[in-house]
Amino acid sequence: MTTRIAHAGLAARRMSAEQAAGLILPGMTVGMSGFTGAGYPKAVPLALATRIAAAHERGDKFALRILTGASTAPELDGALARVGGIDFRLPYQSDPELRARINAGQIEYMDIHLGQVAQYAWCGFLGKIDVALIEVAGILPDGRLLPSTSVGNNKTWLDLADKVILEVNRRQPEGLDGMHDIYYGTALPPHRKPIPLLQPGDRIGEPYLRCDLDKVIAVVESDAPDRLGRFAPPDEASRRIAGHLVEFFHHEIAAGRLGDQLLPLQSGVGNIANAVLGGLREGGFRGLTAFTEVIQDGMLELIGDGTIEMASATSLSLSPEGVEEFVRRIDFYRQHIVLRPQEMSNHAELVRRLGCIAMNGMVEADLYGNVNSTHVAGSRIINGIGGSGDFARNGFLSCFMSPSTAKDGAISALVPMVSHVDHTEHDVGLVVTEQGLADLRGLSPKQRARAVIAQCAHPDYRPMLQDYFDRACRDSYGKHTPHLLNEALSWHQRYLDSGSMR
Ligand code: COA
Repeated sequence: MTTRIAHAGLAARRMSAEQAAGLILPGMTVGMSGFTGAGYPKAVPLALATRIAAAHERGDKFALRILTGASTAPELDGALARVGGIDFRLPYQSDPELRARINAGQIEYMDIHLGQVAQYAWCGFLGKIDVALIEVAGILPDGRLLPSTSVGNNKTWLDLADKVILEVNRRQPEGLDGMHDIYYGTALPPHRKPIPLLQPGDRIGEPYLRCDLDKVIAVVESDAPDRLGRFAPPDEASRRIAGHLVEFFHHEIAAGRLGDQLLPLQSGVGNIANAVLGGLREGGFRGLTAFTEVIQDGMLELIGDGTIEMASATSLSLSPEGVEEFVRRIDFYRQHIVLRPQEMSNHAELVRRLGCIAMNGMVEADLYGNVNSTHVAGSRIINGIGGSGDFARNGFLSCFMSPSTAKDGAISALVPMVSHVDHTEHDVGLVVTEQGLADLRGLSPKQRARAVIAQCAHPDYRPMLQDYFDRACRDSYGKHTPHLLNEALSWHQRYLDSGSMR
């Protein structure tokens, strides 16, 4: 027995990654751990990719349905996609290899609110789950599992899968012990009860994952770090977006609509989100809270210096430098971080109760405030909706941010009509670009359009948007939400035809 595998029965089920991969058969549905590059299994998927490639060389069919918490890393999504080992994927991805195959039409991908995956699985909408393949940081003497750097959907996969394969990663810090809160009180309608969480830091469950030990068919040891890139320092556009948002918060405090400690923050993935967090520190905020999905470097820094007092999330998605800092002061961070299953971190009831401030990136917004978070030109997916919808619909305030142009100015992020809708105008409170902030709360469609054009559009595109809006107001079939249907998506078509929306 190793110290990380303290249960004698499970220690006896240790085997190599190759042997464990041999237990996963063609056509199976595998629920894997992993959430935004943290806590994904690192050994078995690589062995599985080798096994699948060999099967394909022999002319045998071998592809799997892969369900996770969110995105993983090249060793999982990249490796399996490259060998044609995935025929269905859910619920979020960011791997270039996988994305290319999804957009080539070779892999079916279901983009779904991250907070709803567990419910879908429990209701049977995702079919039978054959195997749960879960990375853990350790196994206790009684067989309970110490979760690793993400919780994601691990509880659900462990509960529902017929068989379980555990990857015990000794690289994950043992100091994670005590940081997790696994809530076992969920039920399906009509048996649901209120979830007893009133503050972001409340602990309502247990620090460990339960597992029916009879289902465990393999235990594999691994020793590899989560593979996450470094964040570029915020660029000028991100800093200006952050500046507009922080100014807005001060304005809301002065108006009595927010207190000095704001409300629990949800901060999306990416560089803009990191820049906004940095802006909060510079704006003099202290003692804030976060009820979010992912703790990235920017948030860890804010926890470290007291800007954020308590953060609840489902994943620690840190760069190598972030990991070093986290491990160095893990006893401190344990007092200020709670990691939960994603059905709790993104739960509509909790987001609504706490009144989260949702801050997410977007691909584009239209005149009326509809937001596209996922697709280029309506058809090519980037990542997925992630948790943005869980927070945008249910939060106290829903804010979407982007530079006003993309691809060196060839694309306007503000368009007459979005080419794909993830968040409707009814779920979008603020649109922010480096040009300014449009506060759409309490406005009618035409009032929203005027705000978006004046505050957010890039000067190169502002006259074009104004011209479209003016002609739409004159010629549209209805004058409530004016549109010229034969022109509404012409900006996207012009980009596809000529390489520019101009
Ligand atoms: N049209 C075409 N492409 C666009 C675009 C637009 N209007 N806006 C951005 N892009 C492209 C960028 O050029 C970039 O492509 P590249 O990698 O080829 O350069 C890519 O989209 C990512 O944009 P980037 O500027 O790097 O922004 P980001 O890292 O902040 O990501 C989203 C923006 C929308 C893709 C990202 O926020 C996302 O995936 N959101 C959905 C999920 C989510 O909100 N999660 C939060 C809760 S988990």
